[in-house]
Amino acid sequence: MDYHVKTGIPARQATACLVIGVHSGLGTPATAEAVDQATEGALRRQLVRAGFDGAAGKTLMLHELPGIAAQRLLAVGLGDAGKLDAKAQRKAFGAAGRALATGSVADALIALTADRVSVPARQGARDLVIALEEATYRFDQLKSKPTPPKVPLARVTLLAADRSAANALRRGVDEGVAIAAGTRLAKDLGNLPGNVCTPIHLAATARKIARGRARLRVEVLEQKDMARLGMGALLSVARGSRQPPKLIVMHYRGAPARTPPVVLVGKGLTFDAGGISLKPAADMDQMKYDMCGGAAVIGALAACAQLDLPLNVIGVVPSSENLPDGNANKPGDIVTSMSGQTIEVLNTDAEGRLILCDALTYCERFKPAAVVDVATLTGACVVALGHHASGLFTTDEALAGELLAAGEQTGDRGWRMPLWDDYQDQLDSNFADMANIGGKSAGAIIGACFLARYAKAFPWAHLDIAGTAWRTGNDKGATGRPVPLLMQWLLQRAGVTG
Ligand code: BES
Ligand code: MN
Ligand code: ZN
Repeated sequence: MDYHVKTGIPARQATACLVIGVHSGLGTPATAEAVDQATEGALRRQLVRAGFDGAAGKTLMLHELPGIAAQRLLAVGLGDAGKLDAKAQRKAFGAAGRALATGSVADALIALTADRVSVPARQGARDLVIALEEATYRFDQLKSKPTPPKVPLARVTLLAADRSAANALRRGVDEGVAIAAGTRLAKDLGNLPGNVCTPIHLAATARKIARGRARLRVEVLEQKDMARLGMGALLSVARGSRQPPKLIVMHYRGAPARTPPVVLVGKGLTFDAGGISLKPAADMDQMKYDMCGGAAVIGALAACAQLDLPLNVIGVVPSSENLPDGNANKPGDIVTSMSGQTIEVLNTDAEGRLILCDALTYCERFKPAAVVDVATLTGACVVALGHHASGLFTTDEALAGELLAAGEQTGDRGWRMPLWDDYQDQLDSNFADMANIGGKSAGAIIGACFLARYAKAFPWAHLDIAGTAWRTGNDKGATGRPVPLLMQWLLQRAGVTG
């Protein structure tokens, strides 16, 4: 999609569709008021006749209004005027996006950003672009006869109240475009099936992104490199697969070399059948999404590069399949991780922590300012939090506050879970330093407790995205979460405000 920003009088803009906001009870912000006047009250009369009340998230497309240059007008419900915060505004943006995506309009002039609202213009523009890209996202590259919309939305212009607002909107658009592109990449990778999106494919994608970007460098550690480093836990998972494992390392240099980097680690399990502890058949296809943490990290690094973020960021994606095989991990096997700690693999389906623990130990060499890992780690997290919030685990109060705030600001929320030492005993093993599972209770916390044992050398947080990385049901598909949360956090850390 092509984005532009301009100032001007809404009623005089030639466009296929003018998009304006209307509050509950048909309270009209300045833009709608001006448009109504230009139509000599026809706008208000038509809204009333259609029963449109400005409720949040409702939209109404009107045709052939007199007195305006636009061919059509899309009225978007903003809800109560006093309650229009960023969250309510995002809801309105989403509704507008869906109406435009199915409305057979090739270009739209969006005046939703022209009225004075409590949300800063820059954040509003960022949210708007992200919402439009979400609404128009399609994944049909594997259909033999894709059916794209006849008239796809191709060009969007944001209307600004004045010059200085236009500048703020432009910056927000650039940020939104970069974040949406990273999110789209994460969705695409997530939606690709396991026979296409293999560890090799993830590594090739990371390399492709770095091509032509001077500040982004990709390094891929192969099986032999991992063996040399003693990554016995990661390699034990890969032993059950015919696909070679990869440890993808993306270096983004946006600050001087001596600035400690932020490191993002993402679980890149391209298909999780459970291994010898085989999963049940129902819905097993969904385990193609078990690489969504890795996809989010690759997407975030792409967005960092596109934004020229003044920060050093490193992405680390351990990638493998988890399948049953004569050579696969067996329950009871004991493996030695890169940290030297030994692990009794009591359940081969708790493989995420096995590939992540070696990736976390590998991070020590970067002397990171902070490490955040992102993983579809436990079904238990879905039981605990459902599909709205990612589980956030950390003992670092500052990091917790930053990540929770970034989640709130983007609507890509996390929710803090405990990570008390009291739980650690559940991982005791009679035969090794620890087991990889810890009984029936507190599954998401136990997964986090396991990882904590490998993250002692740096400030660290873990996001369990098992419930948020994809949707089930009719609109089954990857969500691209938590790219928005991660990018908001990184923007904040880089001191980029607004
Ligand atoms: N990838 C799964 C977690 C998962 C399950 C995510 C369902 C989303 C939906 C992970 O590798 C796994 O299998 N975890 C086990 C851990 C258990 C064996 C301790 C689980 O959640 O059942
Ligand atoms: Mn598993
Ligand atoms: Zn898994």
